[in-house]
Amino acid sequence: LDNGLGRTPPMGWNSWNRFHCNINENLIKQTADALIKYGLDEVGYKYLNMDDCWEGERDEQGYIHASNVTFPSGIKALADYAHSKGLLFGIYSDAGYLTCARRPGSLGFEEQDAKTFASWEIDYLKYDNCNNNGKPEEDRYKVMRDALNATGRPIFYSICEWGRSAPYLWAPSVGNSWRTTGDIHPTWPSILGILQRQHRITKYAGPGGWNDPDMLQVGNGKLTVDEQKSHFSLWAALKSPLLLGFDIRNPSHDTLEIVKNTEIIAINQDPLGKSVNIVKSTSYLDIWVGKLSDGHVALLLNKDESPTTIKLDFAKHVNIRGEILVRDLWEHEDKGIYVNSYSCEVPKHGIAVLKLFGGTKINDFTVQYYDHNDNL
Ligand code: DGJ
Repeated sequence: LDNGLGRTPPMGWNSWNRFHCNINENLIKQTADALIKYGLDEVGYKYLNMDDCWEGERDEQGYIHASNVTFPSGIKALADYAHSKGLLFGIYSDAGYLTCARRPGSLGFEEQDAKTFASWEIDYLKYDNCNNNGKPEEDRYKVMRDALNATGRPIFYSICEWGRSAPYLWAPSVGNSWRTTGDIHPTWPSILGILQRQHRITKYAGPGGWNDPDMLQVGNGKLTVDEQKSHFSLWAALKSPLLLGFDIRNPSHDTLEIVKNTEIIAINQDPLGKSVNIVKSTSYLDIWVGKLSDGHVALLLNKDESPTTIKLDFAKHVNIRGEILVRDLWEHEDKGIYVNSYSCEVPKHGIAVLKLFGGTKINDFTVQYYDHNDNL
């Protein structure tokens, strides 16, 4: 969507993955404080986004109000608090009569709600898809786009229809991001399941409009450190929004270190805005490769249950030849100059993220074949 926003994927925090409906204004304020305290804002996490369950009643004039039990000071006060800390503030609604948590939705109230959100100085709207009247997604999501546009306030518009209506075909001119898939859970199978459904649609992501494979589960559930690194790296390289979903008031050292890896964040925020694509996939490993404004990035994912050596072939997988400088973005180390290929050992469910500098293009074809597409 050409509204000036989302020229690179949005970064921030959202309440849903960790807190679901258990949110209140103190939690949101403490989270704002924690974004600053741990320097997350400085590496790019600027959006503080509330998900479902902030809503109270819609009054007789049709105006939506925050729950006076959990948000007694109202939403404008929270947005002001976020802004006073240099953050941006996001809210949630639904293109249906009721949200998924059965609070009032915006269907039929789009203009009125958009005006309300703008008067609260909201910067981001996540727009969900529960309890709608069955009208096509495209039609319902366009009404809110136009309503937001009419307010004159730049509001990042996040379309959340779970990939139901092939949104990548219509959403680039409607929203700044669109969910590609159903809800993510903090488990390895959920992350892999979503990942395996991204490779055909990577080309639709670009400045102003991004594929959204759902918010991050880094720091949630029982994901191992390697699983969290893999999840974070892949989402970054797919140019997904990077919305943290853990309780950042009490972060673990490992989790903070993962989400503050500025070399991985730089892949996500690269101005070229091109997603990686899959160039090799078997039951045991994936290789994802993409262009950056100053080189290439390659991700070697080990899906197996034990460590394995994965080989990146520069000609076959990246379509480049010559002397290539390889840098490992988790080890923060230049590995040296390589000519034909680079191999490294990758732990169980782990990943190597390599930045490749130099080399010349071999031909004009984009590498998009799969060596062993037994599970695609
Ligand atoms: C479904 C969405 O996919 C989730 O991300 C979350 O927003 C819930 N609805 C909230 O009810």
